[in-house]
Amino acid sequence: MSEAVVARPFTDPARLDAFWMPFTPNRSFKAKPRWMVEASGMYYTDSQGRKILDGMAGLWCVNAGHGRPEIAEAISRQTRQLDFVSSFHMGHSAAFDLADRIGALAPADLNHVFFTNSGSEAVDTALKLAVAYHRARGEGQRTRLIGRARSYHGMGLGGLAVSGIGRHRKDFGALLPPADHLPHTLNLEHTAFSRGQPTWGAHLADELEALCSLHDPSNIAAVIVEPVAGSTGVLPPPQGYLERLRAITEKHGILLIFDEVITGFGRIGAAFGAQALSVTPDIITSAKGLTNGAVPMGAVIASKKVHDALMHGPKDQIEFWHGYTYSGHPLCCAAALAALDVYQKDDLYARTARMAPYWEERLHALKGLPHLIDIRNIGLVAALELSPRDKAAGARGAALGEYCYSQGILVRPSGDLIVLSPPLIIEHAEIDRMVETLAAGLRHIA
Ligand SMILES: Cc1ncc(COP(=O)(O)O)c(C=O)c1O
Repeated sequence: MSEAVVARPFTDPARLDAFWMPFTPNRSFKAKPRWMVEASGMYYTDSQGRKILDGMAGLWCVNAGHGRPEIAEAISRQTRQLDFVSSFHMGHSAAFDLADRIGALAPADLNHVFFTNSGSEAVDTALKLAVAYHRARGEGQRTRLIGRARSYHGMGLGGLAVSGIGRHRKDFGALLPPADHLPHTLNLEHTAFSRGQPTWGAHLADELEALCSLHDPSNIAAVIVEPVAGSTGVLPPPQGYLERLRAITEKHGILLIFDEVITGFGRIGAAFGAQALSVTPDIITSAKGLTNGAVPMGAVIASKKVHDALMHGPKDQIEFWHGYTYSGHPLCCAAALAALDVYQKDDLYARTARMAPYWEERLHALKGLPHLIDIRNIGLVAALELSPRDKAAGARGAALGEYCYSQGILVRPSGDLIVLSPPLIIEHAEIDRMVETLAAGLRHIA
């Protein structure tokens, strides 16, 4: 461990009480905590001094690997030069530079960038923007939002309304704005062990026509989908599916939002999933990889059409009544600019596209091992789905996750799924090691 890093052993359980951990069974974690004390490149170092291969890029965010000095230096420089200035009625050059850079990376005329602090805020911003867009055009009745079953759009109430993971919604239902859902696209009978985009399932986009009949398209503001559903267990879109969604939304004047919080900034082999999958939405939401995970930041990227619709009325009036204290925070902008430089220098998006076939080949070689009922992949992301144990859903996934960790590999168990989303700098030998460990784990667990 470097001398600069002080590992604090939290030996006193009482000191663990105050931090109410997110999305964590607090009591069991605190009974048996797992600490990381340092990170560099592809690896964490845990409190035992073990090197742990990061198979999750942190949480789908550390695309260029941990501890990139260029990003650390940019953050430090910016903080010393201009630590904070509000973006309400004021500006600093990094925010304008960054918006310009993101606009140039994004597809088509998605050139207008609204900064947030997270993916959740980006989603809520995009949903509000969609509703405000229609209102500005004189169609204020278009307030209904359409999400998709099994989708994850963050934890804001807007994002929850369109999300499709029941457990996330269960305790908060009454507060949600009007939304409906498309079916998800996973059907193991037709799609199991597909490589990349499944050939089955494009017709599921036609369910949007059914929702249009039910609610009338004149009441629908936007459809939001993850181009590749991530948190639910990596569901690449069926071939032709996003194209059909695009055609139907266009036909009915409904905005199409791609939630690219995971797919943005290289994950599937282009700057955005929209480009990798050749479908252009009206709005993109992003976060995570935007700063290589170094500081929290999100960005909503709107097309000219959406932006221009709001640029009406007296010029001294606010056009979009929305914003956050830290929208365009100087430190986050500096981090993001440095991250984008690193991605460019490493040629990371093209590298990902070049590495993806090897990733696919190695992972699909696991087919036939015990418990495996599906392998899904696209770009440098994948999921293994295991058959659940009798009366113990999730136990097998947890056991495989534990096995991998015991062998020095961090993967993300989610129920009986193992999700893999390594930093995009991963080398062939590290892919081999991950796959071999997963193979040994599948043979080892009950
Ligand atoms: C597709 C998608 N949207 C939104 C979010 C929420 O982002 P955040 O956790 O930064 O609020 C996530 C987080 O994983 C995500 O995967």
